[in-house]
Amino acid sequence: MTGKLNLGMLFGGRSCEHEVSITSARSILAALDPEKYSVSLIGIDKQGYWHMADSIDAVTHHGSVTGVPERDMNESGDIVTMRLHHQGNLVPADIAHLTDIPTLDVVFPVLHGTFGEDGTLQGILETAGIPYVGCGVAASALAMDKALAKMVFKAAGIPQAPWLVTTHHEWIVDRSPTLHRVEHELGYPVFVKPANLGSSVGVTKAHDRQELVRALEHAREFDNKVIVEQSMENHREIECSVLGNQAPEASILGEIRPGAEFYNYQTKYLDDKTELTVPAPLDPDTTRSVREMAIRAFLTIDGKGLARADFFVHRDTNEIILNEVNTMPGFTPISMYPRLWAASGLPYRKLIDRLVGLALEHHRSKQHLKRSVRHDAPR
Ligand SMILES: Nc1ncnc2c1ncn2[C@@H]1O[C@H](COP(=O)(O)OP(=O)(O)O)[C@@H](O)[C@H]1O
Ligand SMILES: [Mg+2]
Repeated sequence: MTGKLNLGMLFGGRSCEHEVSITSARSILAALDPEKYSVSLIGIDKQGYWHMADSIDAVTHHGSVTGVPERDMNESGDIVTMRLHHQGNLVPADIAHLTDIPTLDVVFPVLHGTFGEDGTLQGILETAGIPYVGCGVAASALAMDKALAKMVFKAAGIPQAPWLVTTHHEWIVDRSPTLHRVEHELGYPVFVKPANLGSSVGVTKAHDRQELVRALEHAREFDNKVIVEQSMENHREIECSVLGNQAPEASILGEIRPGAEFYNYQTKYLDDKTELTVPAPLDPDTTRSVREMAIRAFLTIDGKGLARADFFVHRDTNEIILNEVNTMPGFTPISMYPRLWAASGLPYRKLIDRLVGLALEHHRSKQHLKRSVRHDAPR
């Protein structure tokens, strides 16, 4: 017994954000205190195979795996099946024989997008009874599905940009009602987004009908459900990091000034034209209101651990509009989530410790809950 926590770090994954996950994971690994943590790296390749990895680089940016003999891959082509043992043993069958995987005390799923941030993986970890960093099944799934999230935030009275949802089915049966609704209910310009993605993948701004049709066709490639949203013109993009379980805290705010018409994949990850300003230059009342709304949004989805809430704030009126909540935001030291905490007095390494602590605390808080009813219980 070393007294160290056995931390499983899951990274890579099947989503479009595979590369982003690898960059985040590399930073987190470098910050994990080797005196406190014994880390098992579990890389998920783009096909969904899980691999015990010696280093983050074993799962390459292209999603293939180096250093893993061919015979260790799942030959049937099936998605890797898991052997789940209650209380901490999570062993994908394909890698079980490769090495002795220690019982995991906690998992840090450094995964963005589908099959990582959307509740599916969280369901596996719940079933296995392993504490994990971040939001649970429902919060993760809700935040990932922009259509469902909007309805829940609306019910909570949180202001959002006017929007509508259109499905693949509606589009192929007859596209004209969708086009008509966009033009009459929203008006150009609009943002078109796949419901279940992130990192601006599949997101387009459309200024007229021709662009709208192209944007809808493009978004449809990524999801059967597509959101069309009124463009918030003359607004600033403001972000707030939330941390905690029952009584979450909000960080100071950051402003993003994308070096393009909007904050697309290119400006997020590939060029350095985006300006991040921390703290965001907003008046104290607006700052307070944004922070309160970030916490409200987090509690509304029953968030746990962490999330980053993104807003639009009108340049003249300071009207605040919630854009979205990300339950596993980017995690490199220059990413907004850790930067906002660092600026709030919580440096990167301590933030990681807090997140692990919150995961364990939340897991413990569920242990006393009754799982079944005794048959002789009074009715
Ligand atoms: N309604 C909107 N008005 C103005 N800009 C928007 C709107 N929706 C999205 N954007 C721009 O597109 C970016 C990506 O959209 P977002 O909804 O945050 O998707 P993702 O989940 O991929 O990050 C935002 O950061 C913002 O720059
Ligand atoms: Mg976003």
